Formats: sequence, structure tokens, C-alpha cells
Amino acid sequence: MDIARTPSTPDGNPELADAARTPQEPPTIRREDYQPFPWTVPEVSLDFDLGLEATRIVSTLKVARNPAAEASPTIRLNGDGLEVVSVAIDGEPSNGWTMDGDDLLLTLPGEAHEIRIVTEIDPSANTQLMGLYASDGMLCTQCEAQGFRRITFFPDRPDVLSTYRVKMHGDAETFPVLLCNGNLESTGKDEDGTHWAEWHDPWPKPSYLFALVAGQLVANTDSFTTMNGREVTLNIYVRDGDLDRTGHAMESLKKSMRWDEETFGREYDLDLFNIVAVSDFNMGAMENKGLNVFNTKYVLADEDTATDGDFDGVEGVIAHEYFHNWSGNRITCRDWFQLSLKEGFTVLRDQLFSQDMGSAPVKRIEDVRVLRGAQFPEDSGPLAHPIRPDSYREISNFYTATVYNKGAEVIRMMRTMCGEERFRKGTDLYFDRHDGEAATCEDFVRAIEEGAGLDLEQFRRWYSQAGTPKITVRLEHAGNTATLHLSQDVPATPGQPEKQPMPIPLKLALFDRESKSHRGEELIVLDSQEASFTFEGFAQPPVLSINRGFSAPVVIERDIAQDDLVFLAAHDDDPFARYEALQDLIVSHLKQSVNGDLADAERDSARTAIAAAIRAVLQDDALDDLMRGELLVLPSETYLAETMAVADPGRIHEERQALRAAIGATLKDDFSALHKRASAVPYSLQPEARGARKVKTQALMFLAAGDPELGRAMAWAQYEAADNMTDRQGALMVLTGVDGIERTNALLDFYNRYKGNALVVDKWFALQAGSMHPNTIEHVKALAEHPDFTMKNPNRVRSLFMAFAYNPHAFHAADGEGYRLVADVILALDPINPQTAARFVPQLGKWRRMEPKRSAMMKEQLERIASAPALSRDTYEQVSRSLG
Ligand code: ARG
Ligand code: ZN
Repeated sequence: MDIARTPSTPDGNPELADAARTPQEPPTIRREDYQPFPWTVPEVSLDFDLGLEATRIVSTLKVARNPAAEASPTIRLNGDGLEVVSVAIDGEPSNGWTMDGDDLLLTLPGEAHEIRIVTEIDPSANTQLMGLYASDGMLCTQCEAQGFRRITFFPDRPDVLSTYRVKMHGDAETFPVLLCNGNLESTGKDEDGTHWAEWHDPWPKPSYLFALVAGQLVANTDSFTTMNGREVTLNIYVRDGDLDRTGHAMESLKKSMRWDEETFGREYDLDLFNIVAVSDFNMGAMENKGLNVFNTKYVLADEDTATDGDFDGVEGVIAHEYFHNWSGNRITCRDWFQLSLKEGFTVLRDQLFSQDMGSAPVKRIEDVRVLRGAQFPEDSGPLAHPIRPDSYREISNFYTATVYNKGAEVIRMMRTMCGEERFRKGTDLYFDRHDGEAATCEDFVRAIEEGAGLDLEQFRRWYSQAGTPKITVRLEHAGNTATLHLSQDVPATPGQPEKQPMPIPLKLALFDRESKSHRGEELIVLDSQEASFTFEGFAQPPVLSINRGFSAPVVIERDIAQDDLVFLAAHDDDPFARYEALQDLIVSHLKQSVNGDLADAERDSARTAIAAAIRAVLQDDALDDLMRGELLVLPSETYLAETMAVADPGRIHEERQALRAAIGATLKDDFSALHKRASAVPYSLQPEARGARKVKTQALMFLAAGDPELGRAMAWAQYEAADNMTDRQGALMVLTGVDGIERTNALLDFYNRYKGNALVVDKWFALQAGSMHPNTIEHVKALAEHPDFTMKNPNRVRSLFMAFAYNPHAFHAADGEGYRLVADVILALDPINPQTAARFVPQLGKWRRMEPKRSAMMKEQLERIASAPALSRDTYEQVSRSLG
């Protein structure tokens, strides 16, 4: 219920009016308060008279009492900023309705009725990009989570499932293409230059999966034959000039469809699958039934304008949204607290897909890097929440790395514990048992438990407890026995001071130092606060490789000698564990040097050891370049800060840069040779060529740090020789970080070459805002005045200000200017697009983990935002939790 506004009921209840909260205190919604909706809405029919500035919607709902709910004569239809044009019940105009805040209340005497409601909205004024909005001359929708209520009054909750019939009517020149969910049933022209299309979606769905698109679009059309012989027409709709950049998206879609059949036994269920790319979009994409709406960033790609990373992003997001057709649409969520039911599972599914399409170990390392960079800080800060939250004020704030990425890790652990085959039995049971339902996380766990034959009783704590468990590891050796001592600590998080031990599945191997091999990987599960495991037959102390493949999303504190890390970095046969050993080596060194704990000689010897380990990576012929490139990635400043109880971002930046410079100087010849070898590989999308591009720019980064003169010259040469965006962007990134004429020339050339291409101009902004250059703040302020900058386009806002907010050395400038700038952005953006504004708050929310001076300045900015009048629900919630 939304009681943020005074009810305007004719017989206005004064008590309720008194109790009405100020707009600053939106109500808290609690998971435990869930009640089924008293009415069902089996059928919806919508009539849209489309216009950019005025769209009229006639909505006809067939409603009936829900036998599974407590009876109520009142039906609450959610609205958000809507005005009623007219209401009719069972064909008779009605005045018997009231408003409660934004919601429409009707009293219905009988068992079943037909409600007809007319609303009118202005899509061109919709800057929030929720509901029906205008983007670049076309109309499109975003209804998840609560956007449908901005179009018409409706029980806008995921457990009300209806079949939809939609008639779209509009000017044939402005809106030649009219798209909606399901199947196109009929079309027609009227004499006044308008035309119409009628769509029917046979699959019952909640309102958040509704979508329509109307505009001037062209399609890349293809087809797919499903495992049971269904012919599916595939369309990717884009703007006229963008058609030649849709090939990769189409290939990704067909691969996804085949993979889901082969891996999860899931077949597509309509004759048509449409994707539309739009340039104004709050998120990545949306899985509306049969009509996915995408941010252009995740559709358009070709070698001249998209990097290898962009190609992977397209493939992953296309897969993600497609996979939602089963994990999300056929089985949806009972309420928004269950969001991870569809998102965590679908992220796992897209991760497994991408592992199969490319290099599985590299994909795993990338996914862990995302988790550590985005989710670990969430879990250790004021916004920590379980993957199944217990309460929220604004659900948009819970589309988080915790719900998505940790949610995927939790399901991945189930799969690790039972193995692929049994896991498949579990998912088969889940899909079979709950098809057509709005389900809960508990339903999912029970299906895996029964289908896979796995006891998940205690494992359910992963759904209810927030915080990243910390595992302390010590290996003891005596006689012929190695004993592994483990203990776990799940930190306190907001609202959860005490924690129960979690089951932690850990893959491990014990290496013999001489043969550099082990007897096979084992899986142990730590399910108590402390436990010891013994391993017989070790005459010599073995080297422990633990949490292989990152089998559990935990922090490992291991008592291990530097030499053993060097050993694992060179010899571990698990690629993730090898990467991890090298990361650990670097992290533990940087932690000590940041704390000033190292004498000069100690620092030199640690740097020598690290450089030697990296040289071994450069020289190991058994590695492919994609994996080599992963191993060369230094731990991020954000992750380093995360490993420290209190962080000094200035010191972290200095020490990390100094280490990079030292490595670059020591290995100058090796990196130059690598760069030369990689530069000779011609462009293709094959793994060898992609690997070559990856190590090429890695080499440049080290060289530019170790020998700026040389690095600049080589980067400029790479920029000039580039025949693809990966090389060009990599070179420009290096140049943007240093002063010099090359920087100016390359930025100018890049802009002129790509002006008019929004996605590439986004890169131009993001490179400068994410730069290592010491004057980044000044550059960002100047770029905010650039004619191409606008607060109205989320991609552009993110490319400038998100890139800045997540650029630690710039954001954490010692004088606090970065914090002021981000707070200004939040305040300016909040009235335009609250969802995107609120996404900036978590960076300031890290204040408790920073050294005292920065901490105080960050808190001051949060307080400044909190005291602003009329904050959105989104920003209010994030700021108050951050200060709490
Ligand atoms: N379900 C979409 C996806 O992950 C995300 C939609 C998020 N929308 C929002 N308003 N937060 O595929
Ligand atoms: Zn999703």
C-alpha cells in the first residue's frame, strides 16, 4: 500500500490522513506480510491509442474472486501518477471508485465482474523511463518491477497472472512498426492515415512482463527450429542505420536457444521471438514475453565499434534474457522478495552458457572478479541484504549484485555439491512442478532437494543471512598426516547481529612439492563454526590449493608462505586457483606496503618475487593468451580496499601504481616482445586473436607505467595501426592516463571518427572519466558541459559519472571534491530519473570503511543529500540505509 500521500477519498479518513507519512518516509514493505491477492484477473484486454505526447489506454479486466485468498469486496488497482478518465463496471459507467494515494479502489458486489478503465498519459514527459516512454522518436515500455501502474490501474504484482489481448492504434508514418507480446493476430489501416495491430499472448503473465514498442524500426530476420520442430521467426529490431551491427546478437540468440534445449531441456514456446534495441534504458535489457527490450549497448556490435568485451556482453545479455523465458516467465516470482529466484538462477544459466561458448576458466575468473568488485563491498557495507531480502521501500534498489551475482553463486554451490547430472534432475523437477506458477525461492530449494537428492536444510541459511563468510585456513603437518583446520565467521550485517554457520563447499587439492602434482581434487563441506579434516600418506608437508574454481563465495584467509603462493601461481592445474595464488601474492604484498609495514629491502624482495611470477606467466607456453591476459590483471583498487578493515584509497592507488611501474620496468623486454608478437596476429573473433588483443593492451599498461616515454609511443602506434575497437580503445585508455600531445590528438581523432555513434561516444566519455590521469575531476567537470552530454540518457550519465564514481583515485580525491561532485549528480538526477540517481549512492555509502578524513567528507555529502526536500523513494531509501 502506498500511503505516501494523503488519501483523497470522498469520506477521507482523518486518522489515516494524520498518519500519512511525509514523502521523505516511504513505507517499508515486509516479506512476512505477504498475502495472496483477493481477486484473480484471468483476462486483460488493452486498447492503445498511441501518441508521443498523449496516449490513451482503455483497459478491460475480467476479474473474479480468488478462492485461495481471504475474500474482500474491495479491489485495489495500483496506479502511479495516473488520473482516471473514466471507469465502468459490467458495462455501466461508475462513480463508485475512490483513490487511496495513487491507487484506485473499487467495491465489487459479486463473484466476477468486468472493469473498464480509461487513462491518458504523456510518454514524452516520462523521464524516469518506467512505464510507457518516448525514446528517440519511438514509444517503448519498461514495466519491471512496477512500471505497469504508470500506464493503467492494475494489481501490479507478480502473482496476478493474466492472458493479454492488445490492440495498438497509431499514426502509420510515426509508428510503422507496432509490436507487443505473443502473436500478431490481425492488422489494418484506417482512412485517416492511422493503422492498427492486434496481438494476443496465450501465456498467462504478470503485468511486469507486458511490453509494447511502436516506431520506425527495421529488422534483422532469421529463424530457429526447436528440438520438437517448431519454426520460430526471430527478429532483431533496430534503427535504420544499425542493421549491419546486429549479426552477433542474432548468432548469440540462436546459440542460446540451442544451448537451453541441450543443457536444461527448455524449448521456446511461441512462433515469434522479437528483440528491440532502444537507446534510452535504465538497465541492460528486459525479458518481456516474446518481446525482449534491450539497451542498444547489448545488441549492436561490430569490430569497428565494439570491443571483445562488448561482444561478450551482447552474447551474455541476449542469453540471459532469452533464458528468462523459462526461469522468470514460465515460472515467475510470487513477490519481489523472491527476485533471486529468477535472477540468481538466470545469471547462473547465462554464466554456464558463456563458459561453454568460450573459455570456461577465463569466464569463471571474470565472474569472480565482478563478484568481488561489486558484491563483496555491498555485503560488507550498510546496504548488505540477503539474496532473499526481508524488507524494502523501493524494489528497484534490490536489483543488486547480491540478488543477481551472489544469487547465482548460491545455486552454483548446490550444483557443485550434487554434480551436473543430479542438478539437472533438480531443475527438471522445478520446471515441471512449478510451470505456470508464481513461485518462491523455497519452492526452488525444495525441488533441487528432492530432484537432486540433496539435503539443503542448513543450506537455506544462504537465502536468509547476508554477509560474506570469512574462512580461516591452517594446514598442519606431522608424521604422515596433513590436517586442515578450518573455521568460519559470518560477519554481522544491518539487522542481523548474530549469524549461524553456513555450509561451505570447498574444493581442494594437496600438491606434492617435488612432482608438482596432486592425487585428485576433493570436495569438503564445512558446515560448523570449526572443523578439522585429516589427509593420510603425506611424508612431506603438501601445498594446499583451496576453494578451487571458487567453489564458495567466501573470503579465504590462509596462513601460507610466499614461496607456496609462488609454487601454486606456477603449477596449480586449476586455472582459477592459479590466478588466485598470483592475486594473493600481490594482495598480501600491497596490503603490507600500504600499511607502511615494509622496509625497503622487504619491498624489493617482494616485488622481485612478483615480477618473477609474472615473467613465468609470460613465458609459460602451455597458457593461451586469453588466460595469460587474466593472470596479468592486477587486483583492483576497489578489491584491495575491500580486503582492508579501513582503507586509504590514496595510499592504495600509489602503491598499486608503483608496483605496476616496478613490474613494467623489470619486465620491459618481456612486455615489449609480447606486444610485438601479439601485434602480428590479424583480427578475427577466434580465441587466439582475442587473446592476442588482450595481452597487447596489458603489455602497454605495464610498459606505460614502467617507461612512460616508451609506453606513450607504443600506445600511439597501436592507436594508429588499429583496425578494430579493442586495440583502439586499449591504446586510447593508456594515452588518456598520461599527459602529452598524443593524448590530445588521440582523443580528438576518436571523437571525430565516431561522433554521431552514441555507443562509441559513450566510450569516449567513459575513458576520460575512468582515467588514471591526475586531473580527471577537472576533465569530468568540463565534459559535463560538452554539447553531447545530457542527464536524460542513462547510458550517457553512466559513461561520464558512473565511470567517474567507480574510478577510485578520482572519486576519492583527498580534498573531497569527488564526493561533492557525485552528490551533486545524485541531487540533479533524482527528479529526472530516480532509479539511476539512486545507483550512485552505494559509492558514498562506503564511508564507514574509509580512513577518518575521507569518511567524514563522504558522510557529510550523504547528509547533504538526505536533507534535500522531496527526494525520490529510491534515493531516500539508499541514503537513509547508508547513514543508518
Ligand atoms: N529483469 C531484468 C533483467 O535482469 C532487469 C529489469 C530491471 N528493472 C528495473 N527497473 N530495475 O534481465
Ligand atoms: Zn534478469
